[in-house]
Amino acid sequence: PKITYHHADGNQDVLDVPGGSTVMRSAVSNGVRGIVGECGGQAMCATCHVYVHTPYLDRLPEISEDEEEMLECAAAERDESRSRLGCRLTVGDELPEIEIDVPKAQV
Ligand code: FES
Repeated sequence: PKITYHHADGNQDVLDVPGGSTVMRSAVSNGVRGIVGECGGQAMCATCHVYVHTPYLDRLPEISEDEEEMLECAAAERDESRSRLGCRLTVGDELPEIEIDVPKAQV
């Protein structure tokens, strides 16, 4: 699967990752800047906040209560339709590709 991270300065990081990888974990282990993942993927920090590009939105899992709460306290403003936690987004057979915008701030 492929994950594209779009940065505010116009640069992009494109990663080829193994199925089952999350947007957060893949960024952290490949040094993609702007995604922190402080809590290690437990939906407890919101430093993996991303804005998902519209064509992928309807293929994502529902937002859980934990994720809902965390998105409310993300450093960058929440976008009601596009904001998600990167640690909740897993690529694989169901979602072979995703593109996201990295927020300007995570803390
Ligand atoms: Fe902490 Fe996603 S890594 S909420």
